[in-house]
Amino acid sequence: MDNPTFQAYRLHAGAADAPPQGRFETLRADELSEGDTLIKVAYAGLNYKDALAQAGRGGIIRAYPRIGGIDLSGTVVHSADPALAPGQEVVVHGFGIGVDCDGGYAEYARVPRDWVLPLPAGIGLRDAAVLGAAGYTAALSLHWMEHCGLTPEQGEVLVTGATGGVAGIAIDILSQRGYRVCAMSGKPEAEGYLRSLGAQEVIAPPDPSAAIKPLMSARWAGVVDSVGGKLLAHALASLRPDGVAAAFGNAGGAELPSSVIPFILRGVKLLGINANSPMPLRRLVWNKLAAEYRPARLDLISHVIEPSDLPQALASMLERGSIGRSVARFS
Ligand SMILES: NC(=O)c1ccc[n+]([C@@H]2O[C@H](COP(=O)([O-])OP(=O)(O)OC[C@H]3O[C@@H](n4cnc5c(N)ncnc54)[C@H](OP(=O)(O)O)[C@@H]3O)[C@@H](O)[C@H]2O)c1
Repeated sequence: MDNPTFQAYRLHAGAADAPPQGRFETLRADELSEGDTLIKVAYAGLNYKDALAQAGRGGIIRAYPRIGGIDLSGTVVHSADPALAPGQEVVVHGFGIGVDCDGGYAEYARVPRDWVLPLPAGIGLRDAAVLGAAGYTAALSLHWMEHCGLTPEQGEVLVTGATGGVAGIAIDILSQRGYRVCAMSGKPEAEGYLRSLGAQEVIAPPDPSAAIKPLMSARWAGVVDSVGGKLLAHALASLRPDGVAAAFGNAGGAELPSSVIPFILRGVKLLGINANSPMPLRRLVWNKLAAEYRPARLDLISHVIEPSDLPQALASMLERGSIGRSVARFS
């Protein structure tokens, strides 16, 4: 059985309360966490959660050393699953990769066969990684919002944290499907970028010190929220009757200073989105990403970086210094 030697970006426990120390190391495949499927990694995405993990924030990683990276695309080297033939192009995200077991920031990854999703026809290795957990989260949000009755005819959709990876893909997909999208971003300089993704309007977040009334002027038919906190509470109070919000992020805070009033007086719906879905739902949503949810502007959203740039690029995500979706190229 192949047991290649390769480079990995691995986090080690910091001293006392210090953040973990990341370094590039030479490893063998049999030193990776357990799994019956060996994948040659092509690209691995940079996600907010990866940035938190590198900084030792949010209690993401509890056991070290650990190779980070919660999503990856690559090709199968060998697998115990005969359906995963050598050379099969695949994507893996969630299931604890980059958190509870080794993830994508290495030239090889080893995972259980049940976590491996063959790429749908029409999605290549690069786009699969650009989509990764971020594109899946954007598509899953829209899947459940449309399941709850959202259509383009019902009105505008607000996308918060708009320059982020998930949000950019959401704007792209929504605008391709005919929705009128309003992008909310704390980066006024990104207006041109957001309009190029399909946003028809770009607005600044509300003043964080402003009071949130239980009901505010009803504007949005839908909300796709990366940020949480007061910003989500504000958006919920501004949903139109029967409007629907998808909440998946906490980039702006984990609290939700809202009230039940929008729910009981306007019938608004708040959907929780967890991208760590069971496999049948993943297959369904990835097939949508290859078809009716296919983004058209991934080239504008994505940046390909070298593995050596990972530490700095991840750090900048926590400084609100990134735009779009970065992927590190491993092969
Ligand atoms: N539930 C799930 O399964 C799931 C899956 C994927 C991601 N997530 C979460 O979704 C969020 C977005 O992920 P991502 O990978 O797209 O991250 P990202 O690329 O770093 O984007 C986050 C965006 O949020 C905004 N933001 C950052 N810090 C903020 C702050 N302090 N206050 C307000 N807005 C802030 C920024 O947009 P602007 O500067 O344009 O405002 C930033 O670009 C994260 O919280 C992540 O953990 C959850």
